[in-house]
Amino acid sequence: MDHFLYRDGSLHAEDVPLAEIAASVGTPFYVYSTATLTRHFRLFDEALAPMPHLVCYAMKAASNQAILKTLADLGAGMDVVSGGEYARAIAAGVPGERIVFSGVGKTRIEMHAALSAGIRQFNVESEPEMRALNEVAQSLGVKAPIAIRVNPDVDARTHAKIATGKSENKFGIPISRARAVYAEAATLPGLDVIGIDVHIGSQLTELAPYRTAFEKIAELTDALRADGHDIRRLDLGGGLGIPYTQDNQAPPLPLEYGNLIKEILGDKGCEIEIEPGRLVVGNAGLLVAQVIYVKSGEDRDFLILDAAMNDLLRPAMYDAHHDIVPVIQPAPGTERQPYDVVGPVCESGDTFAKARRLTPLAAGDLVGFRSAGAYGAVMASEYNSRPLIPEVLVNGDQFAVIRPRPSFDEMIKRDTLPPWL
Ligand code: LLP
Repeated sequence: MDHFLYRDGSLHAEDVPLAEIAASVGTPFYVYSTATLTRHFRLFDEALAPMPHLVCYAMKAASNQAILKTLADLGAGMDVVSGGEYARAIAAGVPGERIVFSGVGKTRIEMHAALSAGIRQFNVESEPEMRALNEVAQSLGVKAPIAIRVNPDVDARTHAKIATGKSENKFGIPISRARAVYAEAATLPGLDVIGIDVHIGSQLTELAPYRTAFEKIAELTDALRADGHDIRRLDLGGGLGIPYTQDNQAPPLPLEYGNLIKEILGDKGCEIEIEPGRLVVGNAGLLVAQVIYVKSGEDRDFLILDAAMNDLLRPAMYDAHHDIVPVIQPAPGTERQPYDVVGPVCESGDTFAKARRLTPLAAGDLVGFRSAGAYGAVMASEYNSRPLIPEVLVNGDQFAVIRPRPSFDEMIKRDTLPPWL
């Protein structure tokens, strides 16, 4: 459920008409709903309520300061995967003890920064990384709290580019080698081994792969405890999917996911961490664009928008489907017609949808891309020298620009000329 609904014939974000935002900030832009963000975060928090837990929002999904602050004020922790994300989380007021640091390629500089300013835990993904972290921690005279990310070799049955839990993926250490790696970790004086971490992929639409992975984690918890490790935290990653269309079968709910965690891992006496990203923010955000032209091709009509693949990369990169809805509500029973929906970037991959059946649209009309809150703005680029588009946050009847659109000058001024030019 989200808070983007038609009222009086026009699409609103909560109580604000999207057309009003468009008139004020221009198009294209991203808009997020505070009520949806809050609701989705709470669903996870409540689903885990029976167990000691921390919901660490995977901020790679959307990392604007205003989004982070909204979630941090609700008690969220953060899952970060770079020094930049760590700095953003700290800047948004998230205390270090609520930040977990994931990712396969943490540098010594990133480790140093996080250990100095405070960190809840590093999710270590390889033996060389573990040894490097040990050295950095020792040089600072501290112990780095760690969980080791294991790769359970489970098929998440999602898009190949976002599956992470198979042995062919670069993530984690093979679960078969976990005991040996934990044994080495226990000998390293700069590390404090506190838990186990797993994340099998993103946009999962069924619980079965989670069940398989969690059962393996339950077994591993027992085995590691028998080996003498004080396993007190289980980080189960993120990945729960969202409905991208109104008609397909909805993925499992956070409550069902929470019940599964409780069923399989609830009696381990561990604090549970999860790292949801997409489900928190995906359906809390919309990309709003304007039709520039409707162009009749030989066998089809092209809807040419002012948004492009550089603004929303998911269709070009993953063949992802985003529902496209007109901002002015069509009269009931209006016939639909097929359009190829494209952007102005100079490549054919700049196609949002082929033969999408939409009610008739004309130049100047506004459309919204649904489910664009996650992996939308954060994956944008300035390809074709198109400045990053603004982000807007709505809260009830108020809205605020949370990232302004840079001018061409601001974009160009980031380049510097070498002395010989
Ligand atoms: N934890 C870890 C270690 C991750 O790698 C990810 C996502 C998450 C949590 C959050 O997963 P979520 O709950 O959002 O599914 N750009 C792609 C998605 C990449 C996901 C990468 N890792 C897309 O647009 O679909």
